[in-house]
Amino acid sequence: MTGAFPRCKQLGIIGAGRAGQAFAVALAPFSEGAPLLFNRSPRRLGEALARLPRARAVERAAEIWRRCDLIVMAVADDSMNEMAKGLSFGRPGMGRPFLFHLSGRCGVGVLEPLRQAGAVTAAVHPVMTFTGDPANEARRMAGAPFGVTGGSAEAVERAMAVVKALGGKGFVIAEEMRALYHGALSHAANHLVTLMEGAARALEAAGVADPHGVLGPLARAAMENSLADGFAALSGPLLRGDRGTIGDHLEAFRQRCPAVLPDYRAMALATLREMERHGMGQGDAVPDMRRLLEDGGSLP
Ligand SMILES: NC(=O)c1ccc[n+]([C@@H]2O[C@H](COP(=O)([O-])OP(=O)(O)OC[C@H]3O[C@@H](n4cnc5c(N)ncnc54)[C@H](OP(=O)(O)O)[C@@H]3O)[C@@H](O)[C@H]2O)c1
Repeated sequence: MTGAFPRCKQLGIIGAGRAGQAFAVALAPFSEGAPLLFNRSPRRLGEALARLPRARAVERAAEIWRRCDLIVMAVADDSMNEMAKGLSFGRPGMGRPFLFHLSGRCGVGVLEPLRQAGAVTAAVHPVMTFTGDPANEARRMAGAPFGVTGGSAEAVERAMAVVKALGGKGFVIAEEMRALYHGALSHAANHLVTLMEGAARALEAAGVADPHGVLGPLARAAMENSLADGFAALSGPLLRGDRGTIGDHLEAFRQRCPAVLPDYRAMALATLREMERHGMGQGDAVPDMRRLLEDGGSLP
């Protein structure tokens, strides 16, 4: 396999879970041999083989290490280091295989035993969700961003070539920035779900029969606007300096939906901080609203 043209003799996937199956589908056309799959539990391996008729099962991960020149390690993050150590006892059989994992949090440090054993190693994180529909998810990788960390310049080059072959857009993340990078993505994708859930719960308490349906158009527009315009997309009572409205919100949450009150206050305070950072907001209204939100007290 070369950096420019990522064809390989033999593709191997260690871990036939959600992401592993999608990568098996997406990379199979670049492999001369039928993709080899290893999975710890036979049940999941059986499910994967039923979905990936061209793939062949192997009994040990070490077989992939011995027989493949392009290896995707698609196992749970916490098992990666142990697996890398286990494999590294044997030399790779295909020269210097290119081996990468898919974790967002982990960089290449976790693969160090395999780099020392002769592999070119990288972390190639698809900023994408995989839920067990490999054919569709393989297609969806086209256009997706990929956070790449390489153990060497050659590793970055090979990783970028794989991303390009998948139709994705690769960008480099420094090893020491992986936790922050992944934290930022979790903050957006995971906490957004919590935010929507809290808002839906409060709407339900207000007697709205279809809270998600009511939230949908507003939330989608706000997200699209914020992705396009950053913080300039902000609107609402904090920006207008409507102290009375904020006070009414706090009282209503306190009385009717107290479970969501701490989240509302935390997000409103975070919004005020961003407003200050951007030099936005109405005169004295910002300190007044901050006091209100911090103390839960009343308006001056
Ligand atoms: N799913 C996503 O949306 C997504 C997105 C981007 C990146 N990723 C990354 O992709 C990788 C795989 O995630 P996934 O979502 O595909 O997970 P998954 O569907 O839960 O599959 C996890 C795989 O890891 C294997 N595994 C777990 N613990 C193991 C151990 N101790 N030894 C050997 N194998 C073990 C599992 O084997 P068994 O079947 O035997 O349990 C299974 O093959 C992770 O690094 C994840 O961060 C996932």
